[in-house]
Amino acid sequence: MKILVLGSAAGGGYPQWNCNCALCAGVRSGSLQARPRTQSSIAVSQDGQRWVLLNASPDLGQQIRHSPSLHPRSAPRHTPIEAVVLMDAQIDHVTGLLSLREGPPIELYCTPCVFEDLSAGLPILPTLQHYCGVRWHPLPVGDADVTAEFHIDAAPALRFRALAIPSKAPPYSPHRNNPVVGDNIALVVDDPVTGECLFYAPGLAQIGEHELSAMQSATCVMVDGTFWTDDEMIAAGLAPKTAKALGHLPQSGPQGMVTTLASLPARRKVLIHINNSNPILDEDSDQRRELQARGIEVAHDGMEIEL
Ligand code: MLT
Ligand code: MN
Ligand code: ZN
Repeated sequence: MKILVLGSAAGGGYPQWNCNCALCAGVRSGSLQARPRTQSSIAVSQDGQRWVLLNASPDLGQQIRHSPSLHPRSAPRHTPIEAVVLMDAQIDHVTGLLSLREGPPIELYCTPCVFEDLSAGLPILPTLQHYCGVRWHPLPVGDADVTAEFHIDAAPALRFRALAIPSKAPPYSPHRNNPVVGDNIALVVDDPVTGECLFYAPGLAQIGEHELSAMQSATCVMVDGTFWTDDEMIAAGLAPKTAKALGHLPQSGPQGMVTTLASLPARRKVLIHINNSNPILDEDSDQRRELQARGIEVAHDGMEIEL
């Protein structure tokens, strides 16, 4: 299976348009060793020809322009993007769907909760019915059903599994402050022929038994790299929000993401959805060196992984 990182930043991207913090200003001026990043999304393919998007970033147009694998290959109109799977209904993960409106009907895989949020609070699905149209493939994750296996025609040899995980529904969701099963999923993609397995969760607030067991079985783990510390946005005077309040597990500390990642057998351990306040963006930072020493990579736009 091939994985293409289209965007590796959290909401706002890096640098964020209105942010003058040391990290954003430093990458703008070139005084910092750091790469700009667009808002997160990855593409997965079994054969390198037909691709499935995992989330659709508001930066999708630019991401496609920079990714030759996703360019049209036959005249007059064509796209190698054959399906989209959504992990949640957050703006930074879904609004790229609007940029697909000139194409064929969107084969969309998401939970009923996410479908509802994108039909009401942020009604992009009804809007798209006036353009390309959307064919919804419900992922039956909700209530007592915490996991669902499914397949996607564009990658017939791969097995997909959605796993309900703790994070946050978006502010326009009726469940923002009372989470329900199906607001957020992780995606497990298995290749039974090669034995390779991807675990993808760009928003993950807590690692419970189910999450840990799925992460332990994966050969590539690509997870929430939003914040290094719980209060880093408050400390930098950027926003009065903790990582926890936004549904993200910080990387540092004894219960942090790094400790768990370091314990996993996976061949590739990759942080994605990096917020512009996170010191790991600075390639010369102590935090980045710590990741290196522990075998943890930081996703960047254009990164390719072959499993
Ligand atoms: C988040 O995951 O908390 C987001 O990146 C917020 C946003 O959409 O800006
Ligand atoms: Mn986000
Ligand atoms: Zn910033």
